[in-house]
Amino acid sequence: MARVLHMRILGIETSCDETAAAVVEGRCGAFGRVLSNVVSSQVEIHKKYGGVVPEVAAREHVLNILPVVNEALIKAGAMIKKSPNSAACGKQGAKEKDVQIDAIAVTIGPGLVTSLIVGIETAKVLSYAWNIPAVAVNHIEGHIYANYISENSKFQIPNKSKIQNIQFPALILTVSGGHTMLVLMRGHGKYKTIGETRDDAAGEAFDKAAAMMKIGYPGGPVISTYAGKFQIQNSKSISLPRPMINSGDYDFSFSGLKTALLYELKNDKNYKKRIPEYCYEFQQAVIDVLIAKTVKAAKEYKVKTVMLSGGVSANVELRKQMAEAVKSRVPNSKFQIPNLKYTTDNAAMIAAAGYFKAARKKFTPWQKLKVDCDAEL
Ligand code: KG4
Ligand code: ZN
Repeated sequence: MARVLHMRILGIETSCDETAAAVVEGRCGAFGRVLSNVVSSQVEIHKKYGGVVPEVAAREHVLNILPVVNEALIKAGAMIKKSPNSAACGKQGAKEKDVQIDAIAVTIGPGLVTSLIVGIETAKVLSYAWNIPAVAVNHIEGHIYANYISENSKFQIPNKSKIQNIQFPALILTVSGGHTMLVLMRGHGKYKTIGETRDDAAGEAFDKAAAMMKIGYPGGPVISTYAGKFQIQNSKSISLPRPMINSGDYDFSFSGLKTALLYELKNDKNYKKRIPEYCYEFQQAVIDVLIAKTVKAAKEYKVKTVMLSGGVSANVELRKQMAEAVKSRVPNSKFQIPNLKYTTDNAAMIAAAGYFKAARKKFTPWQKLKVDCDAEL
């Protein structure tokens, strides 16, 4: 049993515009360490179109996937067990003491079909050639498990690690370019979505707002930087709505906020001079709604842990203000956030989720690995 639970997992992520591969290690049902984490971002390529172009993304994944996987294996010092199917090796001249890969975790969805397929076909081929099992991982589940990744290079001792903060039931606010969801997690693999966006995702709203102000792509980091430059003590004159903040449920809507911003900009001939203020107010409107709904759900479900995940959880103000809100308004819940570098798309989070699924023996034969663009948790 212990042997099964001590595993090194190769993670592969290609759901959108990052080609990523990573090797992580888990032990005794707890996350161990990240042995390598390689992300090849296409952001510079998509920038000129103001968003991800699926066909371009897929072509880039095809070009990048093998070099990225190879780099992740080499950085992890990985050796692949010789199998009846092949004599494949992650590293030339690997020695006995080198790390062995025990399973491959791959994102099967949600995401762009032509992008996902590149990662999945690669995982299938490696699973077959190396004769090791595969684990199908939901992209949102991957974002959630970014919370389990510790930067500590030593093994986490179960029950004594920082990760013991993650106690169930847990509530996760997943905010990314494609999703805004409140998920109740009652145990590993036990999820219930209690609310989600009815239109734009939070990250998508940031991206579209930045496009309207013509300040760059992706919008989240740019808006966050401008917002930080606004001095609130200098009179604030712009006021945007907080959509659905008092709707009584856990759903979100950000398209109205985006439209409200558009009208404000149209009516302001000097808007270019007030970009920091627009960014501040837009960011604060999104944060206010996210915090209100998260705190309400944390109270109702009496959760022991509140977590953030997804690209928007890189937002410094969201991290800070949510931490304060949980501490003061839900003092019986612990607050957990992923390390910044695991908030946006990466494969370490996919491998981490894969480890916890592998520990529960949730494998998928390579023949059955397939894209699920609208995969649900
Ligand atoms: O999780 P992710 O890398 O990809 C998806 O699964 O969608 O999230 C990307 C999104 C983008 O919309 C980007 O604007 C947003 O995350 N983002 C941020 C920040 N950094 C990235 N949003 C707000 N503040 C940030 N600092
Ligand atoms: Zn993502």
